[in-house]
Amino acid sequence: VKIYIPRDAAALSLGAEKVAKAVAQEIANRTLDAQIVRNGSRGMFWLEPLVEVEVDGMRIGYGPVKANDVAVLFDAGLITGGDHALCLGEVEDLPFLKQQTRLTFARCGITDPLSLEDYEAHGGLKGLRRATGMAVADIVKEVTDSGLRGRGGAGFPTGIKWKTVLDAPGDRKYIVGNADEGDSGTFADRMIMEGDPFVLIEGMAIAGLATGATKGFVYTRSEYPHAIATMTQAVEIARAAGILGPSVLGSGKAFDMEIRSGAGAYVCGEETSLLNSLEGKRGVVRAKPPLPAHKGLFDCPTVINNVISLASVPVIMDRGAAFYRDFGMGRSRGTIPLQIAGNVNHGGLYETAFGLSLGDIVDKIGGGTRTGRPVKAVQVGGPLGAYFPRKLFDTPFDYEAFAAKDGLIGHAGLVVFDDTADMLKQARFAMEFCAVESCGKCTPCRIGSIRGVETADKIARGIEPEMNRALLADLCNTMKFGSLCALGGFTPYPVISAMTHFPEDFSPVPLIEA
Ligand code: NAI
Ligand code: SF4
Repeated sequence: VKIYIPRDAAALSLGAEKVAKAVAQEIANRTLDAQIVRNGSRGMFWLEPLVEVEVDGMRIGYGPVKANDVAVLFDAGLITGGDHALCLGEVEDLPFLKQQTRLTFARCGITDPLSLEDYEAHGGLKGLRRATGMAVADIVKEVTDSGLRGRGGAGFPTGIKWKTVLDAPGDRKYIVGNADEGDSGTFADRMIMEGDPFVLIEGMAIAGLATGATKGFVYTRSEYPHAIATMTQAVEIARAAGILGPSVLGSGKAFDMEIRSGAGAYVCGEETSLLNSLEGKRGVVRAKPPLPAHKGLFDCPTVINNVISLASVPVIMDRGAAFYRDFGMGRSRGTIPLQIAGNVNHGGLYETAFGLSLGDIVDKIGGGTRTGRPVKAVQVGGPLGAYFPRKLFDTPFDYEAFAAKDGLIGHAGLVVFDDTADMLKQARFAMEFCAVESCGKCTPCRIGSIRGVETADKIARGIEPEMNRALLADLCNTMKFGSLCALGGFTPYPVISAMTHFPEDFSPVPLIEA
């Protein structure tokens, strides 16, 4: 019998390690023929630690399990899928999972992340095998035709980026996986690296074959020690199996990769700053042009893609461009791993085709607020994303539809707030965040963010509120159009959206001085 207990960081933070120890103890005490598999997370965080038992080819779930539930669960016949108050039935049948379209996350939470055998048994390596037999331009064309766009946030077509690198002259080219997942409420990169690391390795190897790059790096934020450990082990396993190295799967083409850790700066998720950091320099933004695709890591042509963009490539190469682009709406093709967080009942990862309305995501999938109070706003796209009020809940999850409402989908993180949220405080927080994380290279961001905090404080204290509201809006305009990178350039989104949709929070009653 196999008993699955996640080793995902979210499950660990909820006590999965203690549960695993208690399960191992019960197996030993009762001399049972059972094996523990440490899987990734299924992405239903309110059920973690989720313990699953394989019975007659079905996975029966129990959760959330605490260490002191374990003995009772064994008494209730856990290893035969016995009934208990924590029993959830067949995991695949839970509505939150059943209604998803899992392409990129197809194996996450199902397989043993470090078992190559398991990976292949669940469709892994098929995409890379196909790519080894294809001409480079055909691999790039397949990715272009799939409609895949950058999942880091900007939504630039991945195939066009790859073609730029393929066509760029240079003996040495690089693939960089951006795993500096800094947005608040996002965890898709982490989950895939911890739950299915080989899919990222496979995606990076395909990118290498497609562009002539022979070396790759994954730049992971230092706050992800579990992801770094799993990825490092997976790279060693892949190298020993000939997936990485001088001849990828016997193709005669070389590709190898390394895992690197960041040092805690949000701005190092910006691609040029990340490249500086990878080169061992201070993480300061570089002016573009030149684009990294022309002159990137060590001045060589470089593909720099988000982890999810790269991890989506194997399924595209396996099932074909037409299969992938069949999902979605408008120019947003394929699937997107929504990360639902904040004050919400069902927080977690939900992979689905583009096009679901924001209201359905928050109310139906997220199940409303955990506090039971009405939803006031949802911040979509991280700390630089706009706040959407309920009146915009009909917006479909699509790059263009969000841009048309002065927002962005970013890395697809959604943070839910109830009606107790003070949007003036949230606007101030955006400016404060920018001030703390600014790399300091350009004035609108470095100085503007500090002036932004001061101006928000004046509004809060009722000091010339009308003039200061106009000043804040004007400052946002300067930051939006005058900043060198997205940090300064996008900080106005949360501020302006808060002012536009929640004006009542920006008109506090002036304090009467004693
Ligand atoms: P961008 O629009 O400047 O560039 C997007 C990508 O396309 C870059 O990789 C760029 O080098 C590439 N590119 C542009 N033109 C190209 C061409 N002609 N040929 C080849 N490549 C080309 O956007 P940027 O500044 O890279 O990203 C901004 C986004 O990052 C925001 O929308 C925000 O949502 C997101 N973001 C994500 C975070 C995360 O944690 N994932 C954190 C902060 C922001
Ligand atoms: Fe640096 Fe901010 Fe300018 Fe970006 S906008 S280059 S983070 S100072």
